[in-house]
Formats: sequence, C-alpha cells, structure tokens
Amino acid sequence: MNEKQRQESSQVNPADKKSEKDYSQYFQAVYMPPSLKDAKKRGKEEVKYDDFGIPEEFRGMGQGRKFYIRTYGCQMNEHDTEVMAGIFMALGYEPTDGVEDADVILLNTCAIRENAENKVFGELGHLKTLKKGRPDLLLGVCGCMSQEESVVNRILKVHPFVDMIFGTHNIHRLPNILNEAYLSKEMVVEVWSKEGDVIENLPKVRKGDIKAWVNIMYGCDKFCTYCIVPYTRGKERSRRPEDIIQEVRHLAAQGYKEITLLGQNVNAYGKDFEDMTYGLGDLMDEIRKIDIPRIRFTTSHPRDFDDRLIEVLAKGGNLLDHIHLPVQSGSSEVLKLMARKYSREHYLELVRKIKEVMPNASLTTDIIVGFPNETDEQFEETLSLYREVGFDSAYTFIYSPREGTPAAKMQDNVPMEVKKERLQRLNKLVNDTSAQKLKEYEGKVVEVLVEGESKNNPDVLAGYTEKSKLVNFRAPKSVIGKIVKVKIKKAKTWTLDGEMVEEAVEVK
Ligand code: 5AD
Ligand code: SF4
Repeated sequence: MNEKQRQESSQVNPADKKSEKDYSQYFQAVYMPPSLKDAKKRGKEEVKYDDFGIPEEFRGMGQGRKFYIRTYGCQMNEHDTEVMAGIFMALGYEPTDGVEDADVILLNTCAIRENAENKVFGELGHLKTLKKGRPDLLLGVCGCMSQEESVVNRILKVHPFVDMIFGTHNIHRLPNILNEAYLSKEMVVEVWSKEGDVIENLPKVRKGDIKAWVNIMYGCDKFCTYCIVPYTRGKERSRRPEDIIQEVRHLAAQGYKEITLLGQNVNAYGKDFEDMTYGLGDLMDEIRKIDIPRIRFTTSHPRDFDDRLIEVLAKGGNLLDHIHLPVQSGSSEVLKLMARKYSREHYLELVRKIKEVMPNASLTTDIIVGFPNETDEQFEETLSLYREVGFDSAYTFIYSPREGTPAAKMQDNVPMEVKKERLQRLNKLVNDTSAQKLKEYEGKVVEVLVEGESKNNPDVLAGYTEKSKLVNFRAPKSVIGKIVKVKIKKAKTWTLDGEMVEEAVEVK
C-alpha cells in the first residue's frame, strides 16, 4: 500500500474519530485503528502485486538485538510468523527462544474463538512485569485480534504498555512500524481495515527443512455467519500461479519433501483473476509435475470444491489423498443459518464423487456444535453424517459468538451445559472412529516422512503418513527427513507404533 492508499484507508474509517477522542492520550505517533464495519466492505478495485524490499534507511536496525514471536492459531498465522521472522533477520535481528532476553516480543494472535483471545490477554498480563523491569523492550500485538476494534480499544485502555499493534494486512510494513515504535513513546497502531496488495518476495525463515507452507491466496469472501475471518483477513486475493510455482520449485530444489498450499478457502483460488480462468485444479495440475514427494492443501470449502479439482487429485502421485473438508454441521437447516451455501445432501454428494475416484481417500473435517438454537435432532444429524462419511478425524468446537458477525446477534436458546454435553458425545464418536480406523493399519506397511525425535521419547522417531497419521518407531537418526516404510505393530487412539522395514524409499 502506498501513501495515497494509506490515507484513503484512514479516511474511510469512522472508528477513528470516536476512539481518538477516548484514547488520544495514548497515541500521537501513528494511529490507524481497525473497523469491522469497513473490513466487511469488498472493494471492486483491482488487487495490485508488489515486491517486498527493506528500505535502505532501516538496514541494520536489528544489529545486536533479538526478537521473539509467539504464535497462536492456524497454519496461516504460523506461516505469517515465518515471514515476520524473515523480515526481522533481514533487518539484522537475531532470533531467541525465550522472552527473557528478547529485545522485541510479538504476539501473533488468533481471533477465531473467545478462548484463543483470552490466552493472549492472559499473556499480556504476564509480559507487563517483564516490560516494567525492561522499559526498552518493544512489545507488539499483531495477527487477527489486532483487526478487531474492540481488542485494540481494550489494549489501549487496559494494556497501554504495549508498544505497537499492527494487522494482518500490514506485515510487510514491519520495518516501518518498528522504526516508529523506537522513535515514539506512544503506542503505534497501524491496522488497515481494507486489505492491502499481494506482496511477493517476502523473506521467510521456515520452521524446519522438511515441510513447508506456501500461501496461494489470502482472505475469505464466504462470510459464514459465525466466522470472524472474512473481517480479519480481508477479501479473497490470489497469488499469481507463476509466483507460486516458482516458490514451490525453489523449495523442491532446497530438498523440502512436503508442501502444503495454504488459504482460508483454497477452492476459491483464482476466482479473482480478471484476465484468465484458472482455478485450484489447474494450479495443482502444474504443481504435481514439480519434483517434490508430497503435496497437500488446506483449507477447503465444500461449496467451491469443483470437478476439475477432483479430476486432478485423481491423478495421485505426489498429490495426497487426504482431504480436510470442513462440514461444520450435518443439518441442512443449521448449514443455512451458518450461510455455508450447501446442504447435507450436497456435501454427501461431494464425498461420493471424491470417493468414486479416490476410494482410499481419507477425509477429516471441522464441526461446530451448539450453533444458536441448534436442536437435539439437528445435532443428531451431525452425528449421523459423521458416521455416514466415515471421517478419519475431526476438529470439534463449541460455537463461540464473535462480535460483529451475524450469528452473534442471534438469540440462542441452547444452554452451555447442553452444548458441552453435545461436544462430549461428538468427541466420543470422533475418538471411537479414529481408534477403529487406526486399528485397520495393524500389520500394514505405510510410508512415513520422518520429521525427527518423538516429543515424548528421544529414542523414538516420529513422522506422518500420507494420510497424516502420526507414526512412532525406532530407527537410526540418519533417516530424519526421508520417506521410509514402516510396518505398523500397534494402533493407539491417535497414533501408530511401528517398525521400520525399509530405509529411504525412492522419492516418487
Ligand atoms: N465458534 C466456534 N468455532 C468456530 N470456527 C470458526 N469460527 C468459529 C466460531 N465462531 C471453527 C470452524 C472452522 C475452524 C477453523 O474453526 O469449524 O472451520
Ligand atoms: Fe470462516 Fe467460512 Fe471463510 Fe472458513 S469459509 S474462513 S469458516 S468464513
């Protein structure tokens, strides 16, 4: 975003005036607060593509300084952290593993549910003591929570010791924001409600050298009624295929074994291109030709999951047949209230089509229980859909009202006790099905991408199968980073124990 766009962004922001009056004592330096109302608007203007670069005057800013980033939430946030770490390193900062010796601490936050937000506010409470003892320490809040005006106002009021707040669209502005924070005694708030451009050539410090994430698009235009993401991440913007392909090729050349293509709704990839008809299926068809053993993508939306993608996935090879396909509810009535724009029948039909061409595909999902006014019968429909599809596993959540979303305004007659009881029942089904599915692996040989030592026992190695099952087995450390064949000896509820039968299978 250039200076002009920044000015426009602040002009259209009605939240400025009110908040400025309330909290003017805290900010004089840069103040650009978020507005959920503005974030909802989807502008017609074209997405611009820009290249990242460190402005000359900021080079060396981090000499002799250390940074620490704590990440909450989804893979998108994890990957944003890799980008911010890349920017810090390019500025000359060094990473550190703990807050104690950090000169800059960032909390990269998640807004998806209330408990995610509570964790961050709790952490800010702890960091207050650290900051008191070391006033030179810079403390920043970024990520999805910073896009919410209620959060920014609460930080201004309750945690005024925070030095900077910036949003998900401003990550590439980190050098400028740090600079402002060093120069100013006031809190620096720079959160664009309107999404920015697509920025290429962002530096990244990837976590590990075996698996990598690659963003293919940003934002979400689906506006499911419970979800805050379309407000915190802005409108859908796709990266150009050539930029994505170049990044994946580069990762392959560096020896990465697995990549996950990332987006809030990857099935909408390319819908915003005005100069060509090109979707996720087309992109996958090109990426599968790159010499990288495993390719995944997440997260899918059933509504946009098209036949072209299914046709390409059926080609197999390095395109893994594990599909994460959030259903959210098994009741068409609830799905309608959630504005998911598909019915139970449509979802089941999609599953049928996928299984027709990929009979061994494993499906996982996300489910919300206790959506406002969800009846027992509607909840039962979720259980029956779960059984009918035969999911391998699921992430399950109790509905959490998010301020500013349509569902948060709905009257809700379901007591929390009932919601908790439904979650327990669903979790029991999820656990039982998972255990049952894992049991079928006993005696079979699977291919495992070895990631390292097991968290609980350094003598044991751990890695994932193509269908994302965690396998523990004993083998020499030299196989870390390789794909090996492991015979499964014992299935547990969530993991498999095995024995390596063959070292380093030839990469596909
Ligand atoms: N309450 C509970 N769960 C939610 N999710 C998204 N918004 C909410 C909410 N307000 C869940 C959905 C989504 C996953 C990432 O988080 O299941 O797929
Ligand atoms: Fe949220 Fe729905 Fe978009 Fe997923 S598709 S990020 S649930 S609005």
